[in-house]
Amino acid sequence: MGNTVILDHPLIRHKITLLRDERTGTRDFRILVEEIALLMCYEALRDLPTELVAVKTPIASAMEPMITGKKLAVVPILRAGLGMVDGILTLVPSAKVGHIGLCRDEVTHKPHEYYCKLPGGIAERLVILPDPMLATGGSAIQAVDFIKAKGCTNIKFMCVIAAPEGLKALQTAHPDIDIYVGCLDDHLNENAYIVPGLGDAGDRIFGTK
Ligand code: PRP
Ligand code: URA
Repeated sequence: MGNTVILDHPLIRHKITLLRDERTGTRDFRILVEEIALLMCYEALRDLPTELVAVKTPIASAMEPMITGKKLAVVPILRAGLGMVDGILTLVPSAKVGHIGLCRDEVTHKPHEYYCKLPGGIAERLVILPDPMLATGGSAIQAVDFIKAKGCTNIKFMCVIAAPEGLKALQTAHPDIDIYVGCLDDHLNENAYIVPGLGDAGDRIFGTK
């Protein structure tokens, strides 16, 4: 059974409030998404396995923990998930990076896949799947379906803002994965946008529209 963690940390909430502000421009939006991803990653990797290794300090010899050879992959959901990658890589610079391209149809709100490239040995890796927005949950569910079909069993989905509808849908479809949410918002509107949300994350990161 996976865990769902709503981070609800003052630093993360403060930065999300700045993200929500319609006056926040592309440059600051990008920086904030990256910083939030770093803070979320710190929490999401809390359960990384460690082993004791011998270390000699200037004072004494000791057995102290180091992260064991856990292989990591970061697989952002394009486009908006790309904005979270550098923040995660700041903490785990040797992680491999894959990409899943999914785009919601504007009318049906259902995702369709247009690109996928994953690192080798993906089935043995811990996969971090970042996407700033979890709205209906359709994109996240499809991305996890895809990663699981490649044999992955250790998956952590990370989003900045989730709607209750999308969180429920993802938990129901994939009860075994860990889910990290920066802030749980109120509801979806008639266009399947998160309320209050921050608008279209991809457009705000890349300055499109
Ligand atoms: C956004 C967002 C998620 C998806 C969430 O991407 O980044 O991937 O919508 O919505 P859902 O939970 O209802 O599936 P979008 O499809 O707009 O593509 P983009 O990142 O290229 O802008
Ligand atoms: N995708 C976004 O970027 N924002 C939303 O509110 C919903 C889906």
